[in-house]
Amino acid sequence: MQALRITLCAATMAVAFAANAAEVEVLHWWTSGGEAKAAAELKKMLEAKGHKWKDFAVAGGAGENAMTALKTRVVSGNPPTAAQIKGPAIQEWGEEGVLASIDDVAKKENWDKLLPPVVSNVMKYKGSYVAVPVNVHRVNWLWVNPELLKKANAKAPTTIDEFFATAEALKKAGIQAVAYGGQPWQDATVFEAIALGVGGPDFYKKAFIQLDANALKSPTMVKSLETYKRIKPYTDKNSAGREWNLATAMVINGKAAMQFMGDWAKGEFLAAGKVPGKDFLCVPAPGTANDYTFNIDSFAMFKLPNKDAEKGEKDFASAVMSTQFQEVFNLNKGSIPVRAGMDMSKFDSCGQQSAKDFQTTSKKGTLLPSFAHGMAMHSATQGAYYDAISQFWNDDKMTAKQAADKLVAAAKVQ
Ligand code: GAL
Repeated sequence: MQALRITLCAATMAVAFAANAAEVEVLHWWTSGGEAKAAAELKKMLEAKGHKWKDFAVAGGAGENAMTALKTRVVSGNPPTAAQIKGPAIQEWGEEGVLASIDDVAKKENWDKLLPPVVSNVMKYKGSYVAVPVNVHRVNWLWVNPELLKKANAKAPTTIDEFFATAEALKKAGIQAVAYGGQPWQDATVFEAIALGVGGPDFYKKAFIQLDANALKSPTMVKSLETYKRIKPYTDKNSAGREWNLATAMVINGKAAMQFMGDWAKGEFLAAGKVPGKDFLCVPAPGTANDYTFNIDSFAMFKLPNKDAEKGEKDFASAVMSTQFQEVFNLNKGSIPVRAGMDMSKFDSCGQQSAKDFQTTSKKGTLLPSFAHGMAMHSATQGAYYDAISQFWNDDKMTAKQAADKLVAAAKVQ
């Protein structure tokens, strides 16, 4: 009897489940080792809520390809349920009138209290939540292979001068100093870290947030560009077009000693079974220990045709903000939870340092949006900045002054 009752009950629940089950199609670009492991956790959690995950993964670091694919789908009137859209681009999509409000979930779960305003403001369009944040990535990191440094008798650099001294020592020892991926977003990732190290946070704000022409053509900008270009002799001839995770693999496998990259790189080290502090080091990009360039991943929600689909969307948003998800996803991704009050005890030393520095820099006013990762400017302006920086990196005839002029012009592109 008892057994029968349990079976019946389970059957009724299954029916109830099926009635509300939705197919949740999620666009993202998390296809590398660490990224894919993190994305798998998202899928698992959604399926545990009874929905079906439909993967819309578009490979390509920083999501340029994914954004192209998204535009095609939205224009044809067939958007996915949710898409990895970040920063000011959320407003751009909001203006297209295609995003859905998830305010009821956000109110019920008190998101305004769980998120710092610097984050919640970006997730809202005209005062309503239309996106849910996943994490906080720190971008201004340098990833180091300590064994190679030891071979060259060099130390992990803290200043820009030390960085070039270490690079030179590695070169002399026959070791490639820098693993580099020559793609516009990666060029910008390295450049923004160098510019911050050379010019400091006030200069960074003027050049990349306020788009101030005087800062963009200043001697500090010229020096930042020159310093950035000094890295090139320490990279290899095959770096053009290389994906970021392949550059990270070079550090993991001892082919190169250092990589400038955000902490999604840590996801690659961890996925390869490497231990922070032992097999690899995370150090703030030279000269930027007191600053924090942030990159917050988020999913924007699209207007959907029916109630079941909306239910799936809201369950998805709620899962993303849950403490379980924020922990397990970020342990794999290399980032830290964006939700306040999380227990950080399972996170490694890099994650704990990131969480601590996020708080400190936020109080000091040196928590800065990463322009290379879509946090600081309109996407068209960002694209023009990318072009100027990549052209300068690739064209050895172009002077730093010419590149600075290009940045001044880029700042006017909207
Ligand atoms: C960033 C994104 C990260 C990571 C990286 C490389 O823009 O925010 O989550 O995926 O690109 O693809």
